[in-house]
Amino acid sequence: MAEQRDFDNFDEFAKDYRHTHDQSVKMSGASSDYFSEYKIVELLRHENAQAEMTILDFGCGDGNSSVYIRKYFPHASIHGIDVSGKSIEEANAKAIKNASFQAFDGKQIPFQDDLFDVVFTSMVFHHIDHQLHEGILKEIHRILKPGGRFYNFEHNPNNPLTRKVVRECPFDEDAVLLKPSYHKHLINNSALRLEKVKYTLFFPRHKLFKPFLTLENLLSWCPVGAQYYMKAIK
Ligand SMILES: C[S@@+](CC[C@H](N)C(=O)[O-])C[C@H]1O[C@@H](n2cnc3c(N)ncnc32)[C@H](O)[C@@H]1O
Repeated sequence: MAEQRDFDNFDEFAKDYRHTHDQSVKMSGASSDYFSEYKIVELLRHENAQAEMTILDFGCGDGNSSVYIRKYFPHASIHGIDVSGKSIEEANAKAIKNASFQAFDGKQIPFQDDLFDVVFTSMVFHHIDHQLHEGILKEIHRILKPGGRFYNFEHNPNNPLTRKVVRECPFDEDAVLLKPSYHKHLINNSALRLEKVKYTLFFPRHKLFKPFLTLENLLSWCPVGAQYYMKAIK
């Protein structure tokens, strides 16, 4: 019988993570970098780009999201944590200004209470045993300032193409996707207040579909986008 896992550690994928990801999302017509950047552009809809904020990139992997956090939030102080020491080495090698990355045990966030304005998380919770989600949300609540914001981006299991990509992606072998209903319930049962659910990525990024991309914001209520995120407030 397969051993029960608490979470997926990406050490074995760290060096080639971008290449593997590029291959796995090829049919979407976009690169791995595109998927990192679009999420931070989404944050700009909610957050003041000029603010001197403290942002935690939870499950930062090789730090690619933080590259774009740096680009769009030039005054923010960025911290990244991940269970994968090798991914943290990759993140630190990027030498992102005013950003620091560290490995941790995957359960206790190594920061003091009430420290962060924003906790950003991308494609991490489906790599964590669902029984641990509640404890991790408690930790995220603890380290957010009162009024701090939590953004959790996830794959949408309602979308058949997303399910195909995940099925075929080597580092998603053990992933268990979060149904939006489960994700909502998780946040509603925590001390955080759910403010928004938004579905994203409705069309492929091939040239042919370019005119349709401007419609995506209007479709954000529709639960079939390839990904989605939830915004919650402390
Ligand atoms: C699919 S990668 C996403 C990396 C990054 N967030 C991104 O969007 O590029 C998932 C990451 O979650 C990390 N991870 C798994 N369990 C974790 C946990 N309990 N706490 C923090 N990170 C975790 C893995 O090591 C891996 O780097």
